[in-house]
Amino acid sequence: MKILAIISSPRKKNTYNAIKTIEEIHKKYDDCEYEYLFLKNADLKPCIGCHVCLTKGEEFCPLKDDRDAIIDKIESADGVILASPNHTMNVNWRMKNYIDRYSYLMHRPRYFHQRFMLLITSGSFQGIKQAINALAPIVSGGKIISKISVMNSPGMNDKKIKNQLRKLQKKAKKFAKKMKKPYSYRPSFGYLIWFSAFKALQKEETKHNTADFKYYSQKKFFVDMELTFGQRAILKIFEALFGFLVRIGIV
Ligand SMILES: Cc1cc2nc3c(=O)[nH]c(=O)nc-3n(C[C@H](O)[C@H](O)[C@H](O)COP(=O)(O)O)c2cc1C
Repeated sequence: MKILAIISSPRKKNTYNAIKTIEEIHKKYDDCEYEYLFLKNADLKPCIGCHVCLTKGEEFCPLKDDRDAIIDKIESADGVILASPNHTMNVNWRMKNYIDRYSYLMHRPRYFHQRFMLLITSGSFQGIKQAINALAPIVSGGKIISKISVMNSPGMNDKKIKNQLRKLQKKAKKFAKKMKKPYSYRPSFGYLIWFSAFKALQKEETKHNTADFKYYSQKKFFVDMELTFGQRAILKIFEALFGFLVRIGIV
């Protein structure tokens, strides 16, 4: 079992320590290997907002760096921890850049075999929810099995520190147990709707978005799998509905 921890903190402190605790606990329950990827050491250049990855395709991105090597790492892991400190009520800038550089994966998802933990360390409650919500879309087809927030403010008394540690240990144990169970992707209603919406959109807007067109026109569903009659019917009905909404200009 391989876990990849992607850490956006510029220092090896609260966020790193929280993951170390998770690793220690996980290793009590399962034979697992943790790899730490510090975004400050990765060559992931700032997104220049050219839209090319979204429209023409990620292969045309003018930035040449570690972007695809990081994807390879994620795809060879069973579990991924996306971890950021809360900076001004959101993820920090390095994690935001990570999110933007992989924004196209929200159009054309791919991590269907991975399970994710979203982790935020913070000085207080302020902004934890926004930061977790910012991380969620970038799991790109993966399953979020754990959301953890850990508070570490300098003024915290011993009782609060102990409570936070206990909470983290409990959540880490749950994560370990969930990771231990075999996992195979099952399409939820939300994914069926997502697929039908994008499939309908790309049919109508091929001129602007050739990358989505290529992705969706070649697929019956995100994952090449046997769908039930009901699932196929949902795809057909919603594709027709979204197609109609696009044509009359509502979507
Ligand atoms: C620039 C900056 C902004 C921060 N903004 C917030 C914030 O809005 N809310 C909060 O609760 N903590 C905030 N914090 C505190 C950090 O989230 C907290 O100390 C975190 O655990 C640091 O993680 P690290 O040790 O891995 O860097 C901020 C810290 C920094 C440096």
